[in-house]
Amino acid sequence: MKILVIGGTGTIGKRIVEHFSKDHQVLVAGRSSKDYPVDIADTRSIKKLFKKIKKSGKLDAIICAAGEAKWAPFKDLSETDFHIGLRSKLMGQVNVVRIGQKCLKRKGSITLTTGILADDPVYRTTSAAMVNGGIHSFVQAVALEMEDEKRVNVVSSGVVMDAYAKYESYFPGHPPIPMDKMMHGYVRSVCGRVNGEVIRIYS
Ligand SMILES: NC(=O)c1ccc[n+]([C@@H]2O[C@H](COP(=O)([O-])OP(=O)(O)OC[C@H]3O[C@@H](n4cnc5c(N)ncnc54)[C@H](OP(=O)(O)O)[C@@H]3O)[C@@H](O)[C@H]2O)c1
Repeated sequence: MKILVIGGTGTIGKRIVEHFSKDHQVLVAGRSSKDYPVDIADTRSIKKLFKKIKKSGKLDAIICAAGEAKWAPFKDLSETDFHIGLRSKLMGQVNVVRIGQKCLKRKGSITLTTGILADDPVYRTTSAAMVNGGIHSFVQAVALEMEDEKRVNVVSSGVVMDAYAKYESYFPGHPPIPMDKMMHGYVRSVCGRVNGEVIRIYS
């Protein structure tokens, strides 16, 4: 398969790249990528990325493990702060589906990334939780309208083991998710037949 991983240098993304690179051709995209630069908060940048990729043939799978949202107490979040998550993690991923689907082969898949905050938010996460929940609803709805048997899913995991030291204090009592367990979600979406599914990996 030819697989694009947006955010492929991140904590989650690099594990995805490592896993699929064993048997597949993997293209790694991100803001600082030399070969496949993209900022998902910028629609023009997404269009440019897929235009470039299309020249060398369509993709079998697109995985997005990128997107930001501002974390702060609700009383301190301005409307502009909320727009960070709306533009990056929410509309960024919606636009990856909207624009990226045209660069997908028949039966290709798109896998987005959210997180446990959609179902089990913690303090300071009104923006991130809201955005994650929005993507879950989007995925279920857009799967009904995909053409050529293309599929869209989202992997929603708890705090992953590789990021646990960084986030542990924000998630009291949340068990870290082993990286191989997290990977099962992406494999299930890319290699399985599921469609419109929120693949939850919370314990
Ligand atoms: N870490 C966790 O425990 C965890 C658990 C569940 C869900 N998540 C979610 O999973 C996603 C990835 O998390 P992570 O911990 O792997 O983050 P990370 O380590 O900060 O990595 C983020 C990756 O995405 C790229 N990126 C960031 N913003 C981008 C943008 N606007 N356009 C294109 N690429 C962008 C980064 O590369 P460049 O800087 O080069 O762009 C990097 O490759 C996030 O949405 C996060 O909320 C994380």
